[in-house]
This record gives sequence, structure tokens and C-alpha cells, in this order.
Amino acid sequence: LRISVLVSGGGTNLQAVIDSIETGRIRNAEVACIISSNPQAFALERGIKHGIKTFVIDKSQYPAMSLRTKAIISALKEEKTDLVVLAGYMSVLEPELIEAFRGKIINIHPSLIPKYCGKGFYGHHVHEAVIAAGEKESGATVHFVDEGVDTGPIIIQQKVPVLEGDTPDDLGARVLKIEHQILTEAINKVISGL
Ligand code: GRF
Repeated sequence: LRISVLVSGGGTNLQAVIDSIETGRIRNAEVACIISSNPQAFALERGIKHGIKTFVIDKSQYPAMSLRTKAIISALKEEKTDLVVLAGYMSVLEPELIEAFRGKIINIHPSLIPKYCGKGFYGHHVHEAVIAAGEKESGATVHFVDEGVDTGPIIIQQKVPVLEGDTPDDLGARVLKIEHQILTEAINKVISGL
């Protein structure tokens, strides 16, 4: 299974996928390429270190979203992508891309969807909102990507406790560890046909 990973930032979820493939936790799969929306993303370094082909497809090169989408689609097809994994990818996908890879795009989100997801709920903001709301638990979700934001069918979800005195960073770190685990499990579920 050829997996292409879309990233924007640190790439710890990408690293989890790379490590799982290299240690055999994920079998019959390889990272075909990495596409970053951010030329400075450390995720790119992680890929280069493992000899994985990387693309930067960002606003500066492609100001028009429609051209960015076309560039992403052609890169994904050029690399014979079977599964697209959004791993800390901070851009919404256009319908053309969803259509081109319908049912083959998964996303990892740092909350228990449908809570704290959708527009504005990404990264740190999620954990701030969870704590502000006095939630006793949070977690992470891997879901298929459809035209909505964080709205597709859920593949796997795992909870973590919110502890007294947690800062958003404390909670974020606890959730991020779970993200790495369930992303690997979700990919294995997709490979085995769910
Ligand atoms: C993190 O906030 C994570 O919760 C979300 O995207 C952000 C960066 O992840 N999935 P990564 O370290 O770049 O994979």
C-alpha cells in the first residue's frame, strides 16, 4: 500500500508512521511521498532523513487554491498513492481532491470528534477549549475525510484523562502520544479492509 502523507508542521505523526513501517507494526506499506503546505515544516527533515520523496506545495508557489489542489492531485497520482494521510496538515482540502481520492483519505484530529472539531479547532486551540470547558476527558480520532471539516466516518478513537491543573501543553502532549498509536492502528485497519 503506497501511503502519501500531507503535513504542515513538526511531523510527529509522520514520524510515527515511518517508525511503524520500519519496525513492522505496519506491514505491506510504504510512504510514497510527503507533501508539505509549509516549506519550513520539520516534517520535511524527517522524510528526507528516511530517503522519502518530499514536495512543498504552498501558497507562495501556488497563490490560487485551485492550482495548489491540482498540484497536490498530480503529485499524489505521480507517486501512485493508495492512501492519503493528513498528519498535522493545516489546510482544508478542496472537493476536487476529496473526489479524486474518495474513501482513501484519513485524518488524525486531537479530540473526541464530534466534540471540539471543525473550523477553528486545530492544534493547541483544541486543548485550550477542552480545559476551558472543564472536560474530564479528551482524546484523539482518526476519521475518513469527506467534504466537511473533521466530519467523515470515524475509524478509531481513544480517550485520555484531563487531569487537575493540566495546561493545554500537558493535555496536548498526552493526546499526541495517543495520536501516534491510533494512527498506526487506523492504517492497519485500512490495509486489512477495515
Ligand atoms: C498536533 O497538534 C496534532 O495534535 C495534530 O496536528 C498537530 C501537529 O502534529 N494532529 P504533527 O506533530 O505535525 O504530526
